[in-house]
Amino acid sequence: MTGSSARVAILISGSGSNMEALADSMGAGHPGRPVLVLSNRPEAGGLAKAEARGIRTAVIDHRPFLGDRASFEAALSERLEAAAPDVVCLAGFMRVLTPGFIDAWAGKMLNIHPSLLPKFCGLDTHARALAAGETAHGCTVHEVTAELDGGPILGQARLAIREEETAESLAARVLPLEHRLYPAVLRRFIEGERAPLMLDEAVEG
Ligand code: GAR
Repeated sequence: MTGSSARVAILISGSGSNMEALADSMGAGHPGRPVLVLSNRPEAGGLAKAEARGIRTAVIDHRPFLGDRASFEAALSERLEAAAPDVVCLAGFMRVLTPGFIDAWAGKMLNIHPSLLPKFCGLDTHARALAAGETAHGCTVHEVTAELDGGPILGQARLAIREEETAESLAARVLPLEHRLYPAVLRRFIEGERAPLMLDEAVEG
């Protein structure tokens, strides 16, 4: 990733607030630039936000594939390859990808997950952290490997769980941390830095 700026594709399924944080971080002087925002849901709110920023968008709706993951991923690959990204950021992309697809992007694909991995892979992370009696929680950016939410950790942002915390209040506190962590990790990743970045809400404010 030397020479011209790294081409970054961002995959979304929903509101795309992490996509916004990533795209807005890639201003003048940044080593990367957003070349594609791709959603598996045509109704994803993030698509309009990308268009408003002048970023090319695409939709590969998973539903017509009726569970045929191989065909869905073939369509996804074709569209992604056309954008020739150096880095692929999963940002609230809510489809499980198969090892065959992931292998093709090995070392180039990042994901953000709303827990302090390896704790709480999968869904409903905030409620599960509370139910488990955790005192700390947060989010993780990791490289994507065939193991679900399991690749090398590139960064984590942590907060202290308060008394009276609910899953909703935790979600509202973790999301802004995601918006700080992901752009910071992306920039370091493009620059070749793989040592984990650790942010602490109490310290970083
Ligand atoms: C974020 O909280 C992200 O961490 C989570 O989905 C949300 C997407 O929000 N991702 C996962 O749960 C992946 N397993 P956004 O569309 O506003 O960025």
